[in-house]
Amino acid sequence: MIIVLAQTKGGVGKSTLSINLTIACARKGADVLLVDADEQATASDFTAIRTERLGSPGYTAISLTGAAVRTQVLRLSRKYQDIIIDASGRDTAGLRAALTVADTALVPFQPRSFDLWTLDKVVSLLTEADGYREQPLRSFAILNFADSQGMDNAEAAEALRGASALTFLDRPIGRRKAFPNAAAVGLGVVELKPQDLKASAEIAALATAVFATDNDAISAAMMTSRP
Ligand SMILES: Nc1ncnc2c1ncn2[C@@H]1O[C@H](COP(=O)(O)OP(=O)(O)OP(=O)(O)O)[C@@H](O)[C@H]1O
Ligand SMILES: [Mg+2]
Repeated sequence: MIIVLAQTKGGVGKSTLSINLTIACARKGADVLLVDADEQATASDFTAIRTERLGSPGYTAISLTGAAVRTQVLRLSRKYQDIIIDASGRDTAGLRAALTVADTALVPFQPRSFDLWTLDKVVSLLTEADGYREQPLRSFAILNFADSQGMDNAEAAEALRGASALTFLDRPIGRRKAFPNAAAVGLGVVELKPQDLKASAEIAALATAVFATDNDAISAAMMTSRP
């Protein structure tokens, strides 16, 4: 499966989720390719730190920009079981190319109104990408930096459920120190010691929903909150 973390808003957690989903797949034994399609090179820098720490990152990482995101990913899709593309936080040629080649777009939102203001822009990007595709892109909205209390998560979820071109997956990722702490030392949250069990469970639940290919699993992720 080819998954792109896509959002024209910066700092919503695309790189954090790319890294953690890549590690989740790799730990299950899949041959995973992490594509850094952002000139900020967060995913590549992370992989360098990880390689220094572990010797081998456990996945393959490359950097691509512009139209090469499409052409190279198409070629490489024959060689890897899963490909995860970390796109830039702006509307770039690389992001647009990724949206034409991916099976699934995962679009993180913070449960804040100024983050939801990018929703229309994202919807039009996804809709435009469908014009270049044989099959419509499967696109999921999720909450990152979800609050542990208050009404903001529910209000954001309601706004996202009403969006066209996107399916809201009720698999929120909480605002947790474990994410930056793990990334800083080249690890996924599941590998950090002591392990943040909630953060690890959230990533596992998100990975299960995103990699699901049967409609029942996806419907379950749309309808039910995690325990
Ligand atoms: N769930 C979370 N809880 C706490 N901190 C988080 C979480 N997700 C991301 N962060 C932190 O927020 C910052 C931005 O995250 P990240 O770099 O993944 O966003 P991004 O969307 O890739 O940004 P950019 O658009 O600049 O590429 C980082 O410091 C990251 O460690
Ligand atoms: Mg990033």
